[in-house]
Amino acid sequence: MLSMNKSKLAFNATRSIAQINQSRNIYRFPLESDINITKTGKTKIAHGLGGRHSRTGYQVSVFGGTGFLGKILTSKLAKHGTITIAPFRNGRSKRHLKVCGDLGVVNFHEFDIRNLKSIEESVAHSDVVVNLLGSSTNTKNFSMADANIEGSNRIAKISKDFGVDRFVQVSSYNADPNSPSEFFATKGIAEEVVKQHYPDATIVRPAPMYGRNSKFLNDMLSIKVFGGNIIYRQEVYPTHVEQVAQALEKIVYDDSTAGKTYELYGNERYSRVELREMLKYMIHLNQYGFFPAASGYDMPAPEFLVKIWCLLNGKLNPSLEAFDYDTYRRSTLHQKIDPSALTYKDLGIVSDELADWLYKYVKPHIIASSQAKNRTVYGKEEVLKLRDYVNSPKNYLDLFGYGSKN
Ligand SMILES: NC(=O)c1ccc[n+]([C@@H]2O[C@H](COP(=O)([O-])OP(=O)(O)OC[C@H]3O[C@@H](n4cnc5c(N)ncnc54)[C@H](OP(=O)(O)O)[C@@H]3O)[C@@H](O)[C@H]2O)c1
Repeated sequence: MLSMNKSKLAFNATRSIAQINQSRNIYRFPLESDINITKTGKTKIAHGLGGRHSRTGYQVSVFGGTGFLGKILTSKLAKHGTITIAPFRNGRSKRHLKVCGDLGVVNFHEFDIRNLKSIEESVAHSDVVVNLLGSSTNTKNFSMADANIEGSNRIAKISKDFGVDRFVQVSSYNADPNSPSEFFATKGIAEEVVKQHYPDATIVRPAPMYGRNSKFLNDMLSIKVFGGNIIYRQEVYPTHVEQVAQALEKIVYDDSTAGKTYELYGNERYSRVELREMLKYMIHLNQYGFFPAASGYDMPAPEFLVKIWCLLNGKLNPSLEAFDYDTYRRSTLHQKIDPSALTYKDLGIVSDELADWLYKYVKPHIIASSQAKNRTVYGKEEVLKLRDYVNSPKNYLDLFGYGSKN
């Protein structure tokens, strides 16, 4: 037994770094060297071959880790053994994070943005803090300013006080302190507030993100919508949530990204109206021909009515993720690209095409009864054809225009 352990030790000792790195390539280990020095001079030593039992030596706090992007980022960080702190406020929303990493890698800490001590405990031993916490609605307990500005302010200030090396702030496309939209304005102000504490914070502005169960696509899948012609008119460059998480993972380990601003967006510009039309076909609302698909069960409405409806909706249902007045305001603001910001390219990432992924993410929403009748699988080419079709002029008298989309 003893001799077997000895020979194992000898085997491990004789393995060259090159061999280990070669094995790591299989797992796409995020770090290039085993010994890394942080900005404040702390030494981080990586262990293992790059898989689940490895450790990168880093500790990262991910605020908003229970959200759509947060859970993917946490999983990317934890799978190579970065000790991850996931501050949470809702016990149920954190459960799925438990299995993202090896035992002891994903650590939970209950917190509230009003409770400073809970924030202190969440960042106390971390090397990097990533702030994904954000809200696009005013709820009963927290306004957008509370969550986006004050939340970021407190997290950044406390992180600085506790000597956290780096701060990564996830903002939003169109973030601008002077924006007429409350969401874009609060995100813009939050960037400035964070920079007061961390002048070298990395700012990441994602475009609307699609992925499994994304709000971006799910919002457009509802069958009945009042005033969809207004609400969905915004034009954006949707991006894949997996790639935003990949970019954030790179940023976390790469100190040269400190102080830079990244805008992460897809290559193709889509209007939400156009995407919604495409989705109607893909989820087989078109099974009865052209007419119901083109108008769906939507109720197009004049702008002033939608405006009033959104205003009332926001006031009467403040805790619902419903169409509120800011949704109306955002519908008027197309996505603007900041030419001075860095992009995926600067991180060595080639942006995904929405057409490659759309069907995969929409498939679970296909109405079961219609699956039997229409089994079209929308590959990239079909999706692009569909896009051309929904944008082409229609013969509105051809109520049963079977085949016309081919
Ligand atoms: N999704 C997009 O298309 C998009 C586009 C542009 C920018 N962004 C920004 O990117 C970031 C991540 O987006 P996401 O889609 O992952 O957001 P998300 O799913 O809505 O997640 C938001 C996270 O913030 C937390 N949070 C919100 N308000 C809070 C509060 N008052 N106190 C404590 N925690 C709070 C949520 O906690 P709970 O889980 O407990 O609710 C959740 O973990 C956000 O800052 C968002 O504004 C997103």
